[in-house]
Amino acid sequence: MPRYPKPSEGSWTQHYPELGTDPVSYEDSISPEIYELEREAIFKRAWLNVGRVEQLSNTGSYFTKELAIARTSVLVVRNRQGQVNAFHNLCRHRGNKLVWNDFPKEETAGTCRQFTCKYHGWRYDLDGDLKFVQQEGEFFDVDKDRYGLAPVHCEVWAGFIFVNLAKVPEQSLLEFLGPMITDMEGYPFDQMTSRWHFRSPVKANWKLYMDAFQEFYHAPVLHANQSPAAYSKAAAEAGFEAPHYRLEGPHRLVSTSGVRAWEMADEMRKPIEDICRSGLFGQWDAPGIGELPKGVNPAKCDPWGLDSFQLFPNFTILIWSQGWYLTYHYWPTSYDSHIFEGNLYMPQPRTPRERVAQELTAVSFKEFGLQDANTLEATQSMLESRAVDTYLLNDQEILVRHLHKETAAWIDSYQRRKVEV
Ligand code: FES
Ligand SMILES: [Fe+2]
Repeated sequence: MPRYPKPSEGSWTQHYPELGTDPVSYEDSISPEIYELEREAIFKRAWLNVGRVEQLSNTGSYFTKELAIARTSVLVVRNRQGQVNAFHNLCRHRGNKLVWNDFPKEETAGTCRQFTCKYHGWRYDLDGDLKFVQQEGEFFDVDKDRYGLAPVHCEVWAGFIFVNLAKVPEQSLLEFLGPMITDMEGYPFDQMTSRWHFRSPVKANWKLYMDAFQEFYHAPVLHANQSPAAYSKAAAEAGFEAPHYRLEGPHRLVSTSGVRAWEMADEMRKPIEDICRSGLFGQWDAPGIGELPKGVNPAKCDPWGLDSFQLFPNFTILIWSQGWYLTYHYWPTSYDSHIFEGNLYMPQPRTPRERVAQELTAVSFKEFGLQDANTLEATQSMLESRAVDTYLLNDQEILVRHLHKETAAWIDSYQRRKVEV
């Protein structure tokens, strides 16, 4: 049952007694053994978002997604009927990676009618069916119907494409997402087609970066230099407090209250923000997006700033009151590294001025992200000293606590099931 606690009734954390309030271990972020377990227990069981339908605008549009933690690459393609399907990116002849360009480990995208293997030229259609075998007569009664690409479960919700690498997923995508997430349905994700994309390797465990974006306790301190001194001073003195947190199943939400940058005193803003009419966070004159679905700003915070939905395991959808949204992905590559991806989605700018306003939002976002990532590499290096066993989390870090708890729970249920089998 979802609960909607109010701070007056006690702390956020204590409303979810299963979380406890004890100091927590960060062994799950520094242990190669736990990383090995996460492959099967989490990333081959949970639904993983790999992109949006707008990336596949035509028949035959495709992209590949490298999933190092699951030791595979997935090929996602739109077929002639308009359906989006996913396959292991693996040729059935002798196992070459089917779709790649110059570097086998780099992702690629494009549009085609058939996929042709670079090695011996076998060809597959948009449904993954094997259509052509070079010198077929040399083989021994090959039945092409039996040698299509290995399928990956693929479902789409609100234009977000998810894959599941389990042989048989334990839940459908909608069951997995649950109402806290699916109640966002109706938000005009499809209209936000002005897109900025950032991607970077980070030398830290994937969960550490998720943690950095699921609490704002750090913001007045770590990002102090990002704002004018008057603003930073006021923010540091006030401290941060979010009006709403919510946990549901493996997923999490924090809503924050909003800042109307254009209503603040002049010394609280940077001159460039006034010139571009953009800042903290987004353009000031964005087109309205109409009534929000019930799942967005569900606690009706006013003034409302943003909703940060943290979808287990490694996906964030963050909706801003200023009429745009962004996503984060954290793709693990080892116990102490991952690839971070940030995508900003805004409505198409109607004027050059709006374009400039969006550009300022995008570069400001990148500055914040760099400050966060840089700190994580420092954190990772010292957690690995193991000089200390457990760490303190405050009430605002409830989502951090939940992610690590949930990670342990998925590993635990995986191991128990393995013993039963
Ligand atoms: S490995 Fe693909 S055609 Fe031989
Ligand atoms: Fe941050």
